[in-house]
Amino acid sequence: MFRKKLEETISLDKGGDAIITIDQTLLPGEEKIIKLRTQEQIRNAIYKLKVRGAPAIGVCAAYGIYLGAKEIETDDFDKFYAEFKEKKDYLAGARPTAVNLFWALDQMEKTVQANKDKPVKEIKEELLKKADAIKEDDIRTCRMIGENALMLLDDGDSVLTHCNAGRLATIKYGTALAGIYLAKEQGYDIRVFADETRPLLQGSRLTAYELNAEGIDVTVICDNMASIVMKKGLVDIVFTGADRIAANGDSANKIGTSGVAILAKYYGIPFYICAPLSTIDLNCESGSDIVIEERPGFEVTEKWYEEPMAPHGVKVLNPAFDVTDNENISGIITEYGIARPPYRESIAALFEKQKEDKERNGI
Ligand code: MRU
Repeated sequence: MFRKKLEETISLDKGGDAIITIDQTLLPGEEKIIKLRTQEQIRNAIYKLKVRGAPAIGVCAAYGIYLGAKEIETDDFDKFYAEFKEKKDYLAGARPTAVNLFWALDQMEKTVQANKDKPVKEIKEELLKKADAIKEDDIRTCRMIGENALMLLDDGDSVLTHCNAGRLATIKYGTALAGIYLAKEQGYDIRVFADETRPLLQGSRLTAYELNAEGIDVTVICDNMASIVMKKGLVDIVFTGADRIAANGDSANKIGTSGVAILAKYYGIPFYICAPLSTIDLNCESGSDIVIEERPGFEVTEKWYEEPMAPHGVKVLNPAFDVTDNENISGIITEYGIARPPYRESIAALFEKQKEDKERNGI
């Protein structure tokens, strides 16, 4: 299974010349390991969702810009930096919503700036170190999110999740699924309902795939079945990921998430967003500042069917994400703890905690 083939969702090959990952568009039918070398391949892999999920996109972009920087043939810093920024803009154009893409690229640019007095060759080495650190940090962070989520779970609980915020969307544990993996490690009996997540089916293709591979009890439901499952009392808690969280706690995640949160509130089921602090964008005051990606209509009408399932030429709307209002979120589980309403204050407190932690550890 996947675990035997690939320990980490994204990594650099031994020669340091290509990103190694699994093509998520082919799952669950085919487990194809792919190598991404050129900037075009990397951008395309993100746009086409071969690599997807906010944290995985971030790590892919970090290695991607390192590979791009490595190819720049000059010893002159100003020329190097100008070309670096062009490549950065090119990769940043792959998708608009997941803030981790921009966050990781900004971290890489800061590394260039911080080392500007060194020879270009050494700057490239620093970029590799930074990309490795971003990847390692993702593994650590997701594990910490999992530990915080685990505190909300009891043996025998049933969790509903939407889209895929598991190991495939990160490097190792996932965000929304991290608590479930840790519960399994503790020997808990946990059941998961995976919304299939139309139109691209990340729930049935990816979440069911990875949980199944780990021997975790998972049941796929169509998105429009969440209500009946909740009404029957089959769901104890909802965990989803996020692509970008505003300063007030409004959270953008895969289309359909906000409907799940509204249902959960109606049925009195706690609804939690699980995400690293790198997914919180303090430059966005509220959800209305978050750019929502629009994708082509054929993903809705044709992609999975032998024949189009809508009249030829009919109008199709295909927003890839929606924003869950903060008032429908019970808490945001991060690596530094769980933020609860009022979010502006609790989120600011988590960033303060992160700052103190970094100062203490000299990072
Ligand atoms: O379009 P995708 O598949 O990249 O969307 C992914 C999601 O919405 C995930 O839930 C989100 O990125 C959190 S991933 C840990």
